[in-house]
Amino acid sequence: MAAARPLHRGRWCYNAAVAELPQNVKGMNDILPPEVAKWQFVEEKARQILDAFAYRELRTPILEYTPLFQRTVGETTEVVEKQMYTFPDRDGSSVSMRPEGTASAVRAYIARSQWNREPVTRWYYLGPMFRHERAQRGRLRQFHQIGAEVFGIPGPSVDAEMIAMLVALLLDLGLAAVDLEVAVNSLGDPDERATYREALRAYFSAHADKLDDFSRRRLESNPLRILDSKDPRVQALAASAPILLDTLGERSRQHLAAVRGHLADLGVASQVDPRLVRGLDYYTGTTFEIKAKVGGLGAQNTLAGGGRYDRLVSSLGGPEIPAIGFALGVERVLLAMSQPAESFESGLTLYVAVLGEKARAFALPLAHRLRLGGIRTEIEHREIGLKAQLKRADALRTRLALMIGDNELAAGKFVLRDLVKREQSEVRADEIEPRIRQAMD
Ligand code: HAM
Repeated sequence: MAAARPLHRGRWCYNAAVAELPQNVKGMNDILPPEVAKWQFVEEKARQILDAFAYRELRTPILEYTPLFQRTVGETTEVVEKQMYTFPDRDGSSVSMRPEGTASAVRAYIARSQWNREPVTRWYYLGPMFRHERAQRGRLRQFHQIGAEVFGIPGPSVDAEMIAMLVALLLDLGLAAVDLEVAVNSLGDPDERATYREALRAYFSAHADKLDDFSRRRLESNPLRILDSKDPRVQALAASAPILLDTLGERSRQHLAAVRGHLADLGVASQVDPRLVRGLDYYTGTTFEIKAKVGGLGAQNTLAGGGRYDRLVSSLGGPEIPAIGFALGVERVLLAMSQPAESFESGLTLYVAVLGEKARAFALPLAHRLRLGGIRTEIEHREIGLKAQLKRADALRTRLALMIGDNELAAGKFVLRDLVKREQSEVRADEIEPRIRQAMD
């Protein structure tokens, strides 16, 4: 058990002898100011661009019945087998905290017979996902995704449109094109996948002695997942394994070539990565990932990933509807962005320095009115001297300070100081708001 540490050494001292300090769950972090301003910037930019591409927001529950993920992400994937937070609900049914968003989106799509409402559905979502992974930089147990799904278009133009949108978002967030790598691949149709699965099974069976336990079990059930193994010996073996591209038929090849052609038209350079198989079972056809060369992310440098899942809606009981989607890892994008969090936080427009009770009684409704008018205002509620108040105004990166004391009240004139331009003037009560607005322009 971790030793208790005092919370504060100052005036409000936490009594370490009384209680142990509460800890956050490993891999699940608080997001505090000023960091939160950077989050809001990313979320806002994402909403703007998704809105421009005509996506609408979808909100689904955190908890789903466990079989949903077994039937979509796949029972033999690392995510479902090793990483899900699964537990019995109070009625005994097995529920899991969502490890990703596509499964829920597809469930909602089918539950609502969405295809009867519109031929093409574009949804996006934003929120926490949960995977019990080894926590490290860029890899958390509660992490956040911004994801999008399009139902009803077989592509390939929409595949390219989606990848180009993702790149545009990352550029809009301040990342440089040269620091991004766009990798694409195709997993082919189910027949091509079956052929490939057999080729992989034959290859890995011939080297079964070098496989770890997890991979050996995958030999029969899902040999494709051996390619995701983190075991260095298996990874070395996987490097020489047969390549899916070699088993692709003409249609899949043409689709992939068309995606790349459209991407080039949209100004996005892409590379084919024949080993890009993704760790989730529902993919068919186009897959893609965007990696960052910045941010010190190491093996966690995949900012976003996605692909087609043309069979998923029908496999869960809906009609045959093609679909494609992606998800971007917010924490990783934040790490790849070089600007410090403070630069995303706006300062205060007005600090109302108050000396005495009478002045405060006058200032409170004044500040209230200004705040309701959208002026970011702080008023001093503590009994402290003017010097300390101005120091606080500085710390809050304030533009203007309004000073109100008994003398000012009696004279009906107040001092408005511009803390940036370092100049001040006397204003009457009715001049305060127009002067502030003038300074804000
Ligand atoms: P995914 O590749 O599992 O795909 O996750 C997408 C992104 O989420 C990753 O590229 C990464 O940035 C972030 N991510 C994943 N796990 C973690 C973690 N433990 N800590 C921090 N970030 C993480 C999906 O989830 C699919 N649902 C994407 C998709 C949507 N495919 C089709 N539609």
